[in-house]
Amino acid sequence: MDLFNFRDGELCCEDVPVADIAHQVGTPAYIYSGNTLAEHFRRLANAFAAADPVICYSIKSCANLGILRLLADRGAGVDVVSGGELHRARLAGVSGSKVVYAGVGKTDAEVREALTYSARSASGQGIGQFVLETPAERDHIAAVARAIGIAGHASLRINPEVQRRAPELTIASETVAAAFKQDIEHAERFFEHCGHNEFCKLDGLHIHFGSQIDQVEPCASALRAVIGLIERLSQAGHTINTLHLAGGLGVDVDAAVAPTPADYAEHLLPLLQPLVDDGLSLILEPGRTIAAGAGVLVTSVQYIRRDGATQYIVVDAGMHTLLRPALYDARHFVWPVQVAPMHVPHDRAPDQDMPGLDTADVVGPISESADFLARGRKLPPVARDDLLAVFDCGAYGSALSARYTTRPLPPEVLVDGSTATVVREPETYENLLSCELKARKLDTQRRVSFS
Ligand code: LLP
Repeated sequence: MDLFNFRDGELCCEDVPVADIAHQVGTPAYIYSGNTLAEHFRRLANAFAAADPVICYSIKSCANLGILRLLADRGAGVDVVSGGELHRARLAGVSGSKVVYAGVGKTDAEVREALTYSARSASGQGIGQFVLETPAERDHIAAVARAIGIAGHASLRINPEVQRRAPELTIASETVAAAFKQDIEHAERFFEHCGHNEFCKLDGLHIHFGSQIDQVEPCASALRAVIGLIERLSQAGHTINTLHLAGGLGVDVDAAVAPTPADYAEHLLPLLQPLVDDGLSLILEPGRTIAAGAGVLVTSVQYIRRDGATQYIVVDAGMHTLLRPALYDARHFVWPVQVAPMHVPHDRAPDQDMPGLDTADVVGPISESADFLARGRKLPPVARDDLLAVFDCGAYGSALSARYTTRPLPPEVLVDGSTATVVREPETYENLLSCELKARKLDTQRRVSFS
């Protein structure tokens, strides 16, 4: 579900024509539908309501503060993987108890920031839960916590790696099953050796299902295995208070329809309910399901080139603005923002069946073979300065954008009904170069001898 629709041949985000936004902020630009974000959040919360989960939005999928505030206002927590994301969470007003901190490379400074997350508020508390994978991380968090006298709570991550839709990412299921079994055994040993520490209290389990999953049953069977683990851990004297179900849920790609939050809840809730009734807290960590469909990238046509049989539409967005096609061969539906009535798309399938379409590659301005947004697509005829929208870019779109070839980061606009707010200004060359313009000399007096 999303609120990007063609009205009289004109793409609108909720009630605002996308072209009007593009003309005011320039292109390339990311445009988000606030009511789509809110509705995705609401559907997930409703589906799992019986288990009263904390829904910790995965900031890495789309980090804009305007979006974080919108979700925090609706009760969302956040899943972070860096000090920068912690900082964003604090600015967005997310309370510490609703922050979970994953990621395998936490530095001393980041662990300290997490433990003192709410130090300036009355509660004086750190974040809710660290997520860790190795004894070294446990030792590290415990050492920092001991030094500042604030204890942290942690969950151990286990990876069922449920099989994904994208064929290029698919792993043989026997390999996955064997790795998962090892992970479960590893978890039991981990709790045996690291399960008792007053400064890093290991009291949760974190299941990361994988990414872009389009099957519900493998998630349920992974959960069954983890519930067995929880029972064995309890018998061994460990308390598991928290269970995270992290990420993974797929979204519609092309014309294929992914399972809905209600489908997941139908399979997972009956398994979870007895644990929740016994006092277990459930944390969900969605990224893509909340953000992907809520954003488009709008870009304008610069040149149209023909090279032999291939037509290239050169636009002002590229791998620097949307990396997913270059990095994962991801397919995003691309279509002009203003079209004749006969060219209003039927759905988001890459090959639309209608007369008068031309096949083209949509490519960026950087001279690299990976700099493309779509290949071999049938599109209505376009001309210089026409606008194209790249759909389902809300997640891992702007978040993965970069300044490669000294191109400023694109602006971001958040729409609510008929109101559009710039939630990230277009970056200027001055912003972009500000850290370089402050060049300063370092103290390099120390001498080393060559022997
Ligand atoms: N929780 C944890 C611990 C994660 O590692 C992730 C994503 C999520 C939650 C959110 O997962 P989601 O619901 O968005 O699938 N750059 C890739 C996606 C990488 C996902 C990494 N982990 C892409 O563009 O498809």
